Amino acid sequence: MSRRPLAHIDLSALQHNLARVKQLAANSQVLAVLKANAYGHGLVQVAQALHQADAFAVARIDEALALRTGGIVKPIVLLEGFYEAAELPVLLANNLQTVVHNQLQLEALEQTPLAGQLKVWLKIDTGMHRLGIAPAQTDEYYRRLWQCATVQPGIRLMSHFCCADELAAPQTLQQLALFQQLCADKAEQCSLANSAGIIAWPQSQLDWVRPGLMLHGISPMLGQLGRDHLLLPVMRLSSRVIAMRQVKQGDTVGYGASWQAKADTVIAVIAIGYGDGYPRHAANGTPVWLNGRIVHLAGRVSMDMITVDLGPEPDATIGDEAVLWGPELPIEQVATAAGTVAYELLCNITPRVDYRYTNIK
Ligand SMILES: Cc1ncc(COP(=O)(O)O)c(C=O)c1O
Repeated sequence: MSRRPLAHIDLSALQHNLARVKQLAANSQVLAVLKANAYGHGLVQVAQALHQADAFAVARIDEALALRTGGIVKPIVLLEGFYEAAELPVLLANNLQTVVHNQLQLEALEQTPLAGQLKVWLKIDTGMHRLGIAPAQTDEYYRRLWQCATVQPGIRLMSHFCCADELAAPQTLQQLALFQQLCADKAEQCSLANSAGIIAWPQSQLDWVRPGLMLHGISPMLGQLGRDHLLLPVMRLSSRVIAMRQVKQGDTVGYGASWQAKADTVIAVIAIGYGDGYPRHAANGTPVWLNGRIVHLAGRVSMDMITVDLGPEPDATIGDEAVLWGPELPIEQVATAAGTVAYELLCNITPRVDYRYTNIK
């Protein structure tokens, strides 16, 4: 029996979540966002399972090339675009679509001779203030891109929400109104909605939706769980109990003696730590699933191990399986206890964790 932590990836749950995206955004095409190793789920395996998606998006060129090497032939969009003109022939050779969000990219497309034409998504900054051209520059960029011999006719327009996960935030409708105004006189396809947009702001779905997190069964909405939106968890992260020990009232556990037993109790040691990607900032009390019940972290997370309080009636033995997050324990709850978001927990999983894929259709 392996004592290495295991990330079990349920590909049928992934496919269910994509079907849910399509149900919620029935009139949109789906650009599935697979950056950061498909949010820690495994880039190529996830792409293969998402054969019902219309296209894929990644942040960087190396992620796109890994998809092509893995045999993925669907359109791929580079969300950050290219960084320098020398990459343009690579984009062309690998049929990669590029976002254009700055002047350097526009000029590179204007000035670099290419043996073909690239599909371009023009990114407009409607309020996120991260990537994108200013709204007032839209017409100029649009016209110049149309004139580029290196750019395919039909420039798509996109923007990104800053606060769509907060229902009370005023920015979302302001961004939507501005984006729609900029798109209004252009007969091009437009894209705005991320997972939160798809779920909470259906009027933002437009021609293409760009789900990332929700494909993995996780709620993008603050304070809600994936199951509230009929999503199924895709990852189940588990490990094993490797030691049990009695501690007396007043004893402390772990580095910094940060947890102290209020009464005599039993502590289980589970073989997972921040060296595997379990969050070091998970507080005392963070939930862990063990033998059908929720127990709680007792003591600091160390590199290879965590310690949980089982109470005076332990009901566990060495070798038992513990679930850190998955169907038994929503990752959203673990993220909250660790003062972070599910996105970060998923991206932080390290190569020490084994992956197993099941339910491949
Ligand atoms: C431009 C863009 N679109 C879509 C997404 C997907 O977002 P989410 O995972 O919240 O659905 C991201 C991810 O951050 C993104 O950067």
